Amino acid sequence: MSFDNMAQFNIVLVLSLCLSLCLLPHPTSAQLKQNFYSKTCPNVENIVRNVVRQKFQQTFVTVPATLRLFFHDCFVSGCDASVMIASFGGNKAEKDHPDNLSLAGDGFDTVIKAKAAVDAVPSCKNKVSCADILTMATRDVVALAGGPSYAVELGRFDGKTSTSSSVSGNLPKGSFDVNQLNSMFIKNGLNQTDMVALSAAHTLGFSHCNQISSRIWGSKVDSTLNSAYAKQLQAMCPRNVDPRIAINMDPSTPRTFDNVYYKNLQQRKGLFTSDQVLFEDSRTRPTVNAWASNPNAFNKAFITAMTKLGRVGVKNSGNGNIRRNCGAFN
Ligand SMILES: *[C@@H]1O[C@H](CO)[C@@H](O)[C@H](O)[C@H]1NC(C)=O
Ligand SMILES: *[C@@H]1O[C@H](CO)[C@@H](O)[C@H](O)[C@H]1NC(C)=O
Repeated sequence: MSFDNMAQFNIVLVLSLCLSLCLLPHPTSAQLKQNFYSKTCPNVENIVRNVVRQKFQQTFVTVPATLRLFFHDCFVSGCDASVMIASFGGNKAEKDHPDNLSLAGDGFDTVIKAKAAVDAVPSCKNKVSCADILTMATRDVVALAGGPSYAVELGRFDGKTSTSSSVSGNLPKGSFDVNQLNSMFIKNGLNQTDMVALSAAHTLGFSHCNQISSRIWGSKVDSTLNSAYAKQLQAMCPRNVDPRIAINMDPSTPRTFDNVYYKNLQQRKGLFTSDQVLFEDSRTRPTVNAWASNPNAFNKAFITAMTKLGRVGVKNSGNGNIRRNCGAFN
């Protein structure tokens, strides 16, 4: 390549890099801020917290269901409550993708009830987005289960589209290795540290036998699985068991949001391949070990990662709105 060609080539390279980087919307949304509703609905955080607490007292499933719903929402076309939309007419919505089996109805119910309580205050009516209510409710369930509480950024608008086809390939799978996990999280502006921190959502809640059958019923038991734990799993999930049978993701403290998740990994008691690889892979093992022995460091990292997750694909008044009913477009 001659010098001239090289120079031209470089200009084209810089231009195309700039086209892809300079013109993209900035990943952290300037509109988000704490106390976003201080003028329009100053009591909104207490209203949501009270509803979430009541729901939590009725059923513990509220915790994993809400946490999972938030995660699912943000990873599929941004934190815009698109996951809440019910299918209508010919449009098959996000929540009706087969991957939604992990979305328990109690997460949806929590947001719908909190929205009703917020809208019952005349000055708040139709001012607070479903996406923000889900964000607040998620913070509240984590705290109710013993995890850290934190200030949330608010100011999201609700999305105007929701399609089942947008789900495929956008959610991490239980079979993923660290490379696959990293690339899925990096797409959403989350780095490896954030990925390890958010994986601790598996410190509570449950999954289903069909999700792990290949680890315990393959030609041999997965060698990264603790053998006593593998036997327990085989007893809970015999061959040909109803695939919908639920199993706890954290075998030690399934109802507490804590760093025991990382201690379990050290003992090779990660339920999914995507959990256990965090300890098996030398890139992430130091983080697992650090947080297994330091709950405060874990809490800090979790709050950072949740805040970054809450900024993914945020909509504004141009491409979003405040939905009147979280389950339907206005
Ligand atoms: C999940 O999707 C199935 C259809 O694929 C649907 O019947 C079910 O109601 C959905 N579950 C939730 C919680 O929306
Ligand atoms: C990930 O990002 C956080 C800041 O958001 C930073 O503190 C941390 O060092 C980063 N980790 C890696 C592996 O880049």
